[in-house]
Amino acid sequence: HAPSWTGPPIHVGVIGGSGLYKLEGLDVITEVNPMTPWGHASSPITVAKTPAGTHVAFLARHGLTHSLSPSSVPSLANIAALKHLGVRCILAFSAVGSLREEIAPKDFVVPSQIIDRTKGIRRATFFGEGNQNGVVAHATFGDPFDEILRPVVEKLTRQALGPDVKVHGRKTLVCMEGPSFSTRAESIMYRAWGGDVINMSTLPEAKLAREAELSYVLIATSTDYDAWRETSAAVDVSEVIKSFQANVANSQKVLKTILDPLHDLVGDDAEAFKKAQGSMKFSVMTKPE
Ligand code: ADE
Repeated sequence: HAPSWTGPPIHVGVIGGSGLYKLEGLDVITEVNPMTPWGHASSPITVAKTPAGTHVAFLARHGLTHSLSPSSVPSLANIAALKHLGVRCILAFSAVGSLREEIAPKDFVVPSQIIDRTKGIRRATFFGEGNQNGVVAHATFGDPFDEILRPVVEKLTRQALGPDVKVHGRKTLVCMEGPSFSTRAESIMYRAWGGDVINMSTLPEAKLAREAELSYVLIATSTDYDAWRETSAAVDVSEVIKSFQANVANSQKVLKTILDPLHDLVGDDAEAFKKAQGSMKFSVMTKPE
């Protein structure tokens, strides 16, 4: 479908995670709430403008009052709604637990890999059964994040935050089902698997973005040490919330400087945009009639 948005192009969509419910310091242009074949998105989408004039779209993953659990986030509608606005790239934010000593609460992480612990529980495709066309597709997902944008996002995040906040790159995220946190045994197992951080929100979002031919990069903000540390109490919500304020303030700091360059990185002639556009045509298995 042609994009439903007729204003200046919106290349970047931001999905805010826990604590990040709006964009600060940007001029709000309008709010839209498009109906998609999968219903409405988690929240109305705010269209805003940076001081340099770049238009961006913002969506709160858990709703504006955090009323949606990770398992009930309407990811198909969220991705479809952003795609419908003509967005080319999604910058996602999410609070994560740390599975590594060196990733402390309040550190930032730009992961490069995912281990899926939501498989078979959440619908993770626009294709296949239930789809009117009965089209089956297998998206390439070996590199779940956009490999052109990911290192740039890591660099820009580091630049924006300066020496006071550690930014870790090339880490593996475990996405678990929830809503309860992991047992100590699970947490230790995820470490043995090579997991570095853990959340409940990146899937199926990243898979659906790939199917929608949208570049997707995650900025993960660390809130706790999960449950693997023998000498520490296992994570609870009060611990997660303790790091929120600092993480949200730092996320806003990153957003202040990252949106203009990101917009250009998915411009008409940009490598990342050209690579993503049309990429799904090599993934369809169903024979044309
Ligand atoms: N989100 C923030 N901390 C988390 C943890 N320890 N496990 C799963 N999701 C999280």
